[in-house]
Amino acid sequence: MTDLTRRDLLRNAALAGAAVAAGAAITPAIAENVTAISHPDLAPPAPLARATMKNVPFERRDTVRFGIVGTGLRGRSVLSELLAIDGVKIVAVCDVVAAKTARAAKMCTDAGQPAPAEIVAGDKGFEQLVARDDIDFVYTATPWEWHVPVMLAALKAGKHCASECPVGTTLKDLWALVDASEKARRHCLQLENCNYGETEMLVNRLVHEGIFGEVLHAEAAYLHDLRTILFEDRDEGLWRRAWHTRSNSNLYPTHGLGPVSWYLDVHAGDRFDYLVSASSPQRGLELHREATVPDRSDPKWRERYVGGDLNTSILKTVNGRTVMLQHDVVNPRPYTRHNRVQGTKGAFEDYPPRIYVEGQAGGHRWGPIEEWKAKYTHPLWANVGELARKKGGHGGMDFIMAYRLVQTMREGLAPDFDVYDAAAWSAPLPLSEMSVAKGSAPMKFPDFTRGAFASARTTG
Ligand SMILES: NC(=O)c1ccc[n+]([C@@H]2O[C@H](COP(=O)([O-])OP(=O)(O)OC[C@H]3O[C@@H](n4cnc5c(N)ncnc54)[C@H](O)[C@@H]3O)[C@@H](O)[C@H]2O)c1
Repeated sequence: MTDLTRRDLLRNAALAGAAVAAGAAITPAIAENVTAISHPDLAPPAPLARATMKNVPFERRDTVRFGIVGTGLRGRSVLSELLAIDGVKIVAVCDVVAAKTARAAKMCTDAGQPAPAEIVAGDKGFEQLVARDDIDFVYTATPWEWHVPVMLAALKAGKHCASECPVGTTLKDLWALVDASEKARRHCLQLENCNYGETEMLVNRLVHEGIFGEVLHAEAAYLHDLRTILFEDRDEGLWRRAWHTRSNSNLYPTHGLGPVSWYLDVHAGDRFDYLVSASSPQRGLELHREATVPDRSDPKWRERYVGGDLNTSILKTVNGRTVMLQHDVVNPRPYTRHNRVQGTKGAFEDYPPRIYVEGQAGGHRWGPIEEWKAKYTHPLWANVGELARKKGGHGGMDFIMAYRLVQTMREGLAPDFDVYDAAAWSAPLPLSEMSVAKGSAPMKFPDFTRGAFASARTTG
């Protein structure tokens, strides 16, 4: 992210010039951020094509042996879900902070498992973890900058792996993950918990039962007031705010986009073709700093936030459908991922969930989704929803996600998503950054599947 070459600097300067020449239509936020291009990979060449990982089943196994890299808030939260599932063994945990692996190890022994190996060996300690021959799956919940190194190392060592979102932040890295997964014949996933939300799974079934007719458009977002968390001197405050000093983009696209991709059959008949993107002015972090950091000698006052607060991207698929994708984590508002879908016979919108199907009683008014649940609740929610709700991580979807991963691995099924989904769901980060910097110019998605998007998906 930081190795700007002279050519990139010249190109940035040229873009800045173009923005100035465009005159009043370009707001200061965009013009300033032209200099923030940090992705010198506008169109990196696709690596050599190899056999696809689409629809490749896991090898069947009775017990799934996990190694976890990054045992902070999210790592421990997913660990607690895994510990509640039969057929899971936590073999090793790794972090750069010993107290964090110790907390994770205690969770394992409290749950009646043997103590896992604790690896605390600096930034690259994960190399020791992935080298073990008693691990089947490496899950990483580190800061974003470590997702790619951890997963490339895991794949090279012959392990299936997954990370939190975004899996990677440059097109070059996303292609590297695709290539490494295909080469190793091991899965590289983004464990997108939001795909397993009770509402999202219900809506996905309604879409595929044709209740909304032909789907034309969807909306996805991550609008979450994280200002307090971003400014804490611990956990995500230690690394996540920094991304707002580096990138003017849709920084966290996957929570909204993952479920919507399932509604639109992305990589099961369709794929993202291109996006255009625009960012609002930047205000939220500066205002929050002014309000909460009175000491002007605090290093936080040396930070320059380059990301416009609210990024709006519009994605077009090769089948012509559209997706609006938004991101804002620095302004006051209730949480939403939008989670909207519009078809020729009806529509669904979330937060709160509401549905309209042409001809329904009451005229052009939203109705509740409850009456649809009896017939269309997803079998996973029908079967283990009660336990999921009791576990409670994000309303139960975290448990369903973990449960389903373990189920596919134990039963030898193909996972619900693959490296191509992981790459395409994270790609809006670099693509929106490039589009914003070029005055909302359209940016092409690579076809990470190299044609395989057109065929059906055969998950369990
Ligand atoms: N899916 C979700 O709902 C969800 C929720 C929260 C966070 N997340 C994602 O989870 C990831 C982690 O977020 P978090 O909230 O747990 O942050 P965190 O700061 O609490 O945890 C990150 C952990 O990684 C450790 N770490 C840093 N560098 C490391 C390295 N090189 N090797 C091993 N460990 C390292 C840190 O010490 C820390 O314990 C991020 O990608 C975040 O976006 C996802």
